[in-house]
Amino acid sequence: MSLEDELEAQRQRAYAQRSPQERKARADAVTAVADAKVADRALNVGERMPVFRLPAISAEAVDAGRLLDRGPLVISFYRGGWCPYCNIELRALQGRLPEIEALGASLVAISPELPDRAALTADSDALTFPVLFDQGNAVARQFRLTHEIAPEIVRYQLGNGNDVAAFNGMDTAEVPLPATYVIDSAGLVRYAFVDPDYTHRAEPDVLIEVLRGLAADGASANPAPAARATSSEQITAEVLAAVAGARDARAGEILAAVIRHAHDLAREVRLTPTELLAAADFLKRCGDISDAARHEYVLLADVLGLTMVVDTVAAGSPDGALETSVLGPFYRAGAPWEPNGANISRGADDGDPARIHGRVLDTSGAPVGGAVLDVWSTNRNGRYENIDPAQPDYNLRGRFRSGADGDYDLWTAKPVSYPIPSDGPVGELLAVTDRHNMRPAHFHVIASADGYRTIVTELFTDDDPYLHSDPVFGVKPSLVVHYDRIDTPAALNAAGGTEPYWDLEYDFVLTPGQATSVGFSTGRQQPA
Ligand code: BEZ
Ligand code: FE
Repeated sequence: MSLEDELEAQRQRAYAQRSPQERKARADAVTAVADAKVADRALNVGERMPVFRLPAISAEAVDAGRLLDRGPLVISFYRGGWCPYCNIELRALQGRLPEIEALGASLVAISPELPDRAALTADSDALTFPVLFDQGNAVARQFRLTHEIAPEIVRYQLGNGNDVAAFNGMDTAEVPLPATYVIDSAGLVRYAFVDPDYTHRAEPDVLIEVLRGLAADGASANPAPAARATSSEQITAEVLAAVAGARDARAGEILAAVIRHAHDLAREVRLTPTELLAAADFLKRCGDISDAARHEYVLLADVLGLTMVVDTVAAGSPDGALETSVLGPFYRAGAPWEPNGANISRGADDGDPARIHGRVLDTSGAPVGGAVLDVWSTNRNGRYENIDPAQPDYNLRGRFRSGADGDYDLWTAKPVSYPIPSDGPVGELLAVTDRHNMRPAHFHVIASADGYRTIVTELFTDDDPYLHSDPVFGVKPSLVVHYDRIDTPAALNAAGGTEPYWDLEYDFVLTPGQATSVGFSTGRQQPA
């Protein structure tokens, strides 16, 4: 029977005895330890063991350095004799002691429990290897293993007659995470097992394997590399250590976070190798379908809501000021400059005429002259000109400058709802979750001016059926606008025209700050 089999049997016994509340509290406590990253930060493979000398319960003090003079050292940090998993592990180690010693290694167990308690543990588990008293977790701290048991769990333990703080002669129930190390005779950690779940322990078979490897290294001129840790958290820690020296601190921070979250994701969903390869293929196909006018990764970030999370994390706008929304993959820089009053509908049948006008203001209501409004939208077929060779170059795109009094005025086609591209991997992703791909009608604007924050945003038409299910989550209440229909003779007369149109009056309120560049532009698809 493996140690894991024995631990699993104990887990099941404990589970059966516990109330639903206690089961949940214990699961939450393990999650909290995992979230606190204690295991991730613990002493790891490749590091040097802190030197220590600790009193043993049955003999004189043990000097770790002296033990290393004789050969490798196996160290088991255990929580205390009150913990059934610790006893199971200690007994399993005792059972393998002859093999450990035959490989020239020593074995010690370390815990913060007071010597009389440790003596009881050694006695009941019939341990013949040194059990060391680590007063106040001083050595466990050097191995970066300590954490406090959650107060709710302490209450359950007290109910079972286990006063862990008192057992340790401490004020708090601070314990080491159970951990097992193999240290080579040079003092380097060659194997580390640290798991946030106290019911998981190093398998003695693995320890013996590592010791065999060390014995073989000792006999050969070319030592093998350090044994790879078997817990996935240890692998995460190794990878994080490998990228810790990034030259650019920000790049290093982001890369480390990508690694942590990706590894956590794999653990959380128990990702299979086949699924990992399917994900790689999905990303490859996103690349394959992308070109100068098609940006599948931007689309992916948009439909996953990542774009709007990034938008929301960035500084928000003050009350009443223009809010941000998605840029999308269809912004094309370099639109023609147009005078106020110009019409950017350059196609034959772009849609219902719409006039959009108003003022650019600052947050105090003062006009902002010389502000730039870079705008774009689709024609009535829901297509942007850059992916529709039938439309004139830069159709329904233009740049306008506000006048000295902040006024702006432009004519375009009234925006319509339209489908985002669904013929690629992102479309598959929408389909598997039965999500539609219709964006609510919107008018894109990048508003900028010297001394003001550049705002990338959209104005959404208020009566659109997709307003509450935007596939890219871009709608914010302050960005929903109403177009008035101007079609009565009196209204048309007053406007000085004859053709009915839609009228949107909207003031853009800019926030003082730094103007920035968007840093993205699509290209125009070339005719096939
Ligand atoms: C857009 O509005 O242009 C857009 C935004 C996100 C994804 C696809 C299109
Ligand atoms: Fe759009």
